[in-house]
Amino acid sequence: MPMLTLGIESSCDDTSAAVLLDDKRLLSSIVSGQDTIHAKYGGVVPELASRKHLEAIHPIVDEALSLAGVTLNDIDLIAVTQGPGLIGSLLVGFSYAKSLSYVTNIPYIGVDHMAGHLLAIYLEEQTPSFPYISLIVSGGTTSLFICHDFTHYQLIGRTRDDAAGEAFDKVAKILELGYPGGPAISEIAKNGNQEAFSFPRSWLEPQSLDFSFSGLKTSVLNTFQQFKSRDAVPAADISASFQKAVVDVLVTKTLLAAEQFSIKTIVLGGGVSANVTLRETMKESCLRIGAELHYPQPKFCTDNAAMIAMAGYHKFRHHSTAAAYDDDVYSRSTLG
Ligand code: KG4
Repeated sequence: MPMLTLGIESSCDDTSAAVLLDDKRLLSSIVSGQDTIHAKYGGVVPELASRKHLEAIHPIVDEALSLAGVTLNDIDLIAVTQGPGLIGSLLVGFSYAKSLSYVTNIPYIGVDHMAGHLLAIYLEEQTPSFPYISLIVSGGTTSLFICHDFTHYQLIGRTRDDAAGEAFDKVAKILELGYPGGPAISEIAKNGNQEAFSFPRSWLEPQSLDFSFSGLKTSVLNTFQQFKSRDAVPAADISASFQKAVVDVLVTKTLLAAEQFSIKTIVLGGGVSANVTLRETMKESCLRIGAELHYPQPKFCTDNAAMIAMAGYHKFRHHSTAAAYDDDVYSRSTLG
């Protein structure tokens, strides 16, 4: 029997809904962002984010259903992000999904946001085979996983402090480039010299697959302050050199993971994987070692409900049980 999944995502500052037919065909995907609201604060303000989710959730779900040409009666499963994320934001989508499930008797299932990023690549036509090394780089996470199959993921490395996206956002704030920082930095970096500053790369212990970006961020801040006092900040050169430092570490550690586990398929996910320099550098490196590289289109790298529907579909198929009505949201990932 074909199965229609309604995906709902509200873990941070994007309200999103999607309808997926089995794990094959995405019938609709709507994302309503809040960048204009948070931009003036240089980052997401949790209280404002939850309020905006409350306003958006019902119209966004309605729009996703109507764009897919279906009604709630056609839906077989509701998949919703349960965590990690901002508790207030998560609660809006999770409570909405629970209520929908309660009044319609459609089963609902809680999905770990990270599982969504890990499986987002299956929204594309060209899909990888298991096992693969997955680098998830977003505003809240920088982690390396081995994906053994659709429901088994092994955490093999993670950031010990800032996530890569968080570093992009903080550096953009220092350079007064606006929010979200990643796209702003990568845009201005096009006109910069990536060799202008040799910012530190934190490799940690030999063979470690963990990450650390807080030292890099501090180094950028110190450099900025030196130039600021002279009133001439070379923002493009700082951005390009910072981006190069982040990309060097992400690519080197991902290749190290591929070597350590003898896995020759690499998949990228999360908002930072939309970064063109990261994609290009990873592509060249994979070509050099004969590895296969996959990355989703930018719209499936950043937060979206289509990937939540995909991960929810597989979780439900595997466990065949719905979530309970007293289940709660969580702020830290359950995947390691
Ligand atoms: O996955 P995502 O939408 O949300 C989280 O779950 O965090 O990722 C958002 C993060 C932000 O930190 C944003 O600055 C970063 O992804 N980002 C980028 C780019 N586009 C988004 N970072 C670097 N380059 C980009 N092109």
